[in-house]
Amino acid sequence: MDHFQYRDGVLHAEDVSLEALAAEVGTPFYCYSTATLERHFDVFQKAVSPPIAGGTAPLIAYAVKANPNQAVIATLARKGAGADVVSVGELKRALAAGIPASRIVFSGVGKTREEMQAALAEDIFQFNVESHAEAELLSETAAAMGKVAKVAFRVNPDVDAGTHAKISTGRAENKFGIAIDTAPAAFARAKTLPGIEAVGVAVHIGSQLTDLAPLERAFTRVGELIANLRAGGHAISRADLGGGLGVPYLSDQPDPPSPASYGEMMARVTKDWDVCLTFEPGRLITGNAGILVSRVVRLKEGKERCFVIIDAAMNDLIRPSLYDAWHDIQAVRPRGNEQMRADVVGPVCETGDTFAEQRDMARLEAGDLMVFRTAGAYSATMANSYNSRLLTPEVMVSGDRWAQIRARPTYEQLIAQDTVPDWLNQEE
Ligand code: LLP
Repeated sequence: MDHFQYRDGVLHAEDVSLEALAAEVGTPFYCYSTATLERHFDVFQKAVSPPIAGGTAPLIAYAVKANPNQAVIATLARKGAGADVVSVGELKRALAAGIPASRIVFSGVGKTREEMQAALAEDIFQFNVESHAEAELLSETAAAMGKVAKVAFRVNPDVDAGTHAKISTGRAENKFGIAIDTAPAAFARAKTLPGIEAVGVAVHIGSQLTDLAPLERAFTRVGELIANLRAGGHAISRADLGGGLGVPYLSDQPDPPSPASYGEMMARVTKDWDVCLTFEPGRLITGNAGILVSRVVRLKEGKERCFVIIDAAMNDLIRPSLYDAWHDIQAVRPRGNEQMRADVVGPVCETGDTFAEQRDMARLEAGDLMVFRTAGAYSATMANSYNSRLLTPEVMVSGDRWAQIRARPTYEQLIAQDTVPDWLNQEE
């Protein structure tokens, strides 16, 4: 459930009319609903928390990459979320938004020494290490700082997650994790290194997963590994089960499994593990808590197709171009039940600047406002200024309040990012 609903024929974000917002902010813009963010966090937390009193509460480390806006992270920080970060930039963002270092996990295959130093200085909860070379660098860096880093080795279980190839991470040919059968050797080598303590196993097989079976296979392999490692004398006290649970992109596909059924499967598989669990949900929390609002510039009748040309483009929302992703389209003020079939495109000079092909949807005309749903995750954060278009602003709504949580830059600011070298300014 989300809080983008029609009232008196106009789409609202909670209690705020999107027509009113567009008049204030201009288009295009992203709009997030606080109540939806909070609800998704609560639903996930309930689904993965132990039912009986006394069980250890899991760490829900929100995957900051999904939506790193400070206001979004701060909303989740207030709910007790931790953070999964993959760069020093995300680490700084999470800390700045109020997530304590003791609830931060650092993932990623390419952590540099400087990034490790920054995270070690903050005493973060855990490093998810993805290779022996990384373990060695972390050991050296931590030892030099007089620290001992808590490490989980991310394993690659060689499971096909059944999602888009570009967001699959758990197959042997992917760059992520260490092959699961080499994990005992990695733990043994890590034991000889100063400055790190290998206390856990991490896994993440991909994103927008719509089937629990591959996740169950991956978790089962992790369970077997934990038993093996313990038999080999390693004290394993943590397991990080990653993120990846898919969200409904509305009318595209059948709904993915619910957080509750994910939680049931997870509880069944992990019941004897006796570890502290971490989860790294991203899309599940923010995906359906956001929309992209755009205005129709004009309609164009092509030889074979009708094009709805809008003022948002692939630079604002790249997912359709990059992953052939479906985003539901709605009119902000539908014209009765009138429908149309059209290609929805942006103004950028590429054929790939297409949001939807031959889409059956509410009739739109020049000047109408429309929205793309499910644009709270991997959307604003993947925007860029291609074609010298301004980065898309972001708005957050809470009840009848709203605030710009990222302003639209000016063209002066855009141009001022570049510097013309002196020699071009000197007279010949
Ligand atoms: N943990 C790790 C280690 C990850 O790599 C990711 C996502 C997550 C957690 C969060 O996954 P989620 O719960 O959001 O599925 N840009 C793509 C998605 C890339 C996902 C990258 N990793 C998209 O727009 O679909």
